[in-house]
Amino acid sequence: MSDTIPTRSGGRRLHPWPVRIMHWVNAVAMLVMITSGWGIYNDDVIVRGLHFSKDLRLGDWAAWSLNWHFAGMWLLAINGLCYLIYGVLTGRLRERLLPIRLRDLIRTVGETLRFKINHSDLTTYNAVQKILYVVVILAGIAQVVTGLAIWKPVQFSGLISLLGGFQPARIIHFAGMTVIVGFLFVHVALSLLVPQTLWAMLTGGPRLSPSRPRASEKLP
Ligand code: HEM
Repeated sequence: MSDTIPTRSGGRRLHPWPVRIMHWVNAVAMLVMITSGWGIYNDDVIVRGLHFSKDLRLGDWAAWSLNWHFAGMWLLAINGLCYLIYGVLTGRLRERLLPIRLRDLIRTVGETLRFKINHSDLTTYNAVQKILYVVVILAGIAQVVTGLAIWKPVQFSGLISLLGGFQPARIIHFAGMTVIVGFLFVHVALSLLVPQTLWAMLTGGPRLSPSRPRASEKLP
């Protein structure tokens, strides 16, 4: 059997234009959701003593922040759904983010600790990147689901009981935001440290060879 197989994205860019548009729309929507969420949070804090300063909040008071949150919600949910549908139908999500192997993870962590990070191949995500992307995608989905539950607790009462009640659902929603903000710090720092990845996410990056071996088939 041949050691290379044609990829579905043969000859196309590393980040096709729909992915780039959806990525940057998502970045704007996430920033709107996070900063407006902080405005709403301040009205009824979850962690005692934790308030978000005016400079970090979108909306001068909670009602305005709520308006921003609802506007951003549609953008985030519709754009996120398009990203998932596109990724599943083209096979791109599976190709880019799977498989995640324990031995690859151990190797990447070991190399990172020895500052031996290889940036020469932009076309393959390492195991740590794959995990981070999978986690943030799941966190995004969890935010939409828990957000719906606390927005319409009567209509989604089943979901609220599944989450353990209204306040636990709020806490999970807050925890999801924390995960996403944590991801963003690492993600933006890495993309600034390796600017060719940022350039690729803006311009599309290198063209993938039609017979590029799958990441899982590369020799160690
Ligand atoms: C606002 C600042 C952001 C910058 C500068 C940025 C930058 C980048 C860059 C450079 C890549 C390509 C990484 C590579 O090829 O190695 C990327 C991919 C990705 N980013 Fe971001 N990003 C931002 C916001 C976000 C946000 C808010 C999220 C989600 C919460 C996100 C989720 C992702 C995901 C899932 C990928 C993988 C995309 C794919 O290949 O399908 N990014 N980002």
